[in-house]
Amino acid sequence: MHFSNEDIQNLPRIKRLNLINSVTGVKPANLIGTRCKENTNLAIISSVVHLSTNPPLLSFMLRPDHKVRRHTYENIKAEGFFTINSISDSFVEKAHYTSAKFDREVSEFQQCNLTEEYLSDFKAPFVKESALKLGMSYVESIFIDSSNTVMVVARIEQIYIAEQAINNDGLVDLEVLNAIGISGLNSYYKLKKLADYPYARVDDVPDFLSK
Ligand SMILES: Cc1cc2nc3c(=O)[nH]c(=O)nc-3n(C[C@H](O)[C@H](O)[C@H](O)COP(=O)(O)O)c2cc1C
Repeated sequence: MHFSNEDIQNLPRIKRLNLINSVTGVKPANLIGTRCKENTNLAIISSVVHLSTNPPLLSFMLRPDHKVRRHTYENIKAEGFFTINSISDSFVEKAHYTSAKFDREVSEFQQCNLTEEYLSDFKAPFVKESALKLGMSYVESIFIDSSNTVMVVARIEQIYIAEQAINNDGLVDLEVLNAIGISGLNSYYKLKKLADYPYARVDDVPDFLSK
């Protein structure tokens, strides 16, 4: 099957949305926890990526919706702190429904039956059910004109992880965490570790041509 740019433009809206949202492959599944003066907020986000190790910066993409206020973004800008909580298969359905457009006074923690947790006096709420939790401090937002999206940059301040899910080299095992992956905006995948390979040096590349 082949889609030209013209075919893509002519697709029905939902089909185009599903196609373009799923062509990149599996994305990480996280819940972003925030709070404002009156309430807490939780939203599923699939666009978290690593930016740099030192300083330890991550980013995620926000699509501003002009009809609906984005509580996550408002809270992060106002408070300066938020949490990123990896989603495991045991609460994936609850996590999915945090994407519903609840009113500001409704907390997705309560509505989706997920538990607020406060650790190390960190100002934003973690998700108790999550096996990998990051406490983040806001750094900057970069507006991307061509996609009308905002890239939020933040620094890792705290990491909480189940001990059995991290090895001596510091590598996180997503399978042990029962972490899941996201495709598009509706599909969730289990993750199975295939292999660990050493750092790829030119001199050590296997002889694939003779295999
Ligand atoms: C699987 C999935 C992934 C999502 N990823 C993102 C994302 O990366 N960025 C984004 O802005 N919204 C994303 N959303 C939509 C938000 O979860 C949704 O708009 C939510 O209501 C935002 O909450 P807020 O208004 O309280 O900030 C995603 C939704 C789903 C179901």
